[in-house]
Amino acid sequence: MKQLQSYISEHKDRFLNELFDLLKIPSISADSAYKNDVLKTAQAIKISLEKAGCDRAEICETDGYPIVYGEKTIDKNLPTILVYGHYDVQPPDPLDLWTSPPFEPVIKKTEKHPDGAIFARGACDDKGQMYMHVKAMEFMTSTNQLPCNVKFMIEGEEEVGSANLATFVKNNQEKLKNDVILISDTGMIANDVPSITTGLRGLSYVEVEVTGPNRDLHSGLYGGAVANPINVLTKMIASLHDKNNHITIPGFYDKVENLSKEERAEMAKAPFNLENYKKALDIDAVYGEVGYTTNERNSIRPTLDVNGIWGGYIGEGAKTVIASKAYAKISMRLVPHQDWIEITELFKNHFERIAPKGVKVKVTPHHGGQGYVTPINSIGYQAASKAYQNTFGKTPIPQRSGGSIPIVALFEQELKSKTILMGFGLDSDAIHSPNEHFGIWNYLKGIETIPYFYKYFTELSK
Ligand code: BES
Ligand code: MN
Ligand code: MN
Repeated sequence: MKQLQSYISEHKDRFLNELFDLLKIPSISADSAYKNDVLKTAQAIKISLEKAGCDRAEICETDGYPIVYGEKTIDKNLPTILVYGHYDVQPPDPLDLWTSPPFEPVIKKTEKHPDGAIFARGACDDKGQMYMHVKAMEFMTSTNQLPCNVKFMIEGEEEVGSANLATFVKNNQEKLKNDVILISDTGMIANDVPSITTGLRGLSYVEVEVTGPNRDLHSGLYGGAVANPINVLTKMIASLHDKNNHITIPGFYDKVENLSKEERAEMAKAPFNLENYKKALDIDAVYGEVGYTTNERNSIRPTLDVNGIWGGYIGEGAKTVIASKAYAKISMRLVPHQDWIEITELFKNHFERIAPKGVKVKVTPHHGGQGYVTPINSIGYQAASKAYQNTFGKTPIPQRSGGSIPIVALFEQELKSKTILMGFGLDSDAIHSPNEHFGIWNYLKGIETIPYFYKYFTELSK
């Protein structure tokens, strides 16, 4: 690619400033108070796609937040890459743990990012990573080096389950027709250990409610004589794992794919330092399913975790009370072949069955999606691998991630194409946490690597 490095260094400051402008808009999809900001972000993305050289860009309305679509067709006989990303972000709270305000991006140095990282909600997940594609597109169109056709589909509801995108994809198969889908919304092992994500876990997210007596009670007058919903809920939750940290829901593991010895040995080659891992999290031991390594526990094995739990009195001081209700939000990360609808059913039946007499239990499914694995012998993977070899000087390691992008499995089902996950974030970038950040080096490396993917994918498709 001619002029790639000089183009990036010449336009670096502008690339950063434009991203800062996007990061300043609090596009929190989960909180309706930010509706106008989410919509404003969609407009800003549309304009950026036009400026980057798309023939046209449009705002596609849905029942929720709009999808921004853009495309450039240079020759119908050439392959088409569909780029997916999301412009919505997670809520920033707890706010007091941020060292600078979440929507006032600033550059700070970190141990992993000695050249500086952009601190802001969405810096890595996913505005920063999505915008790398817009800037790579700008480079290719303005230097006349776009080798194939491109379509962009940037949504605003990824962090809340992509329900409307699923409908959009089903209704627009012709419009979205492509040869490969390209996404930067995952991570890599380290800046000197590039990796390409070859798997994502599925998800089932549920909310549970345990109801005891019809009103909050004096814990002295009634304590010991009626079921306390909080005691019951915590006991029920505790019973969902056995002493080996296996999940106890009958049938839960039935469809879990067991990796061969060889595959596990291959996985174990990825560099990983347990001491550093513990140190970075300030924990004195790791924890999890007996018989599996940390890297296996967080990628090829399913999980069940409480994400939130509440009930009773949590204000200042003490109040002696037995609450009428207790609640929890629970997520299950699933692996390929586990069906999220089926798992949600299994959970619901089991949770209702284990409830003791004296309480009522309600399980409400939230959202979910299937897991995904992508083969490494596809043209898309090979093109990505060659691209990294060029810009990182190393062959990237294929690695399954523990995170979820539920829409990816639906893409394959509806659009019949494979997804390549070229993520440039690090696990330590604190996505979804306070002080989310994205390395400037990573941002620019992404912009540099993407055009090579286009080039090699087009060449290998011939
Ligand atoms: N970009 C993440 C997913 C991710 C991050 C995958 C890092 C692999 C590595 C995405 O925005 C996300 O947060 N997904 C949610 C699921 C969604 C249904 C809310 C998740 O994984 O919790
Ligand atoms: Mn994301
Ligand atoms: Mn996310």
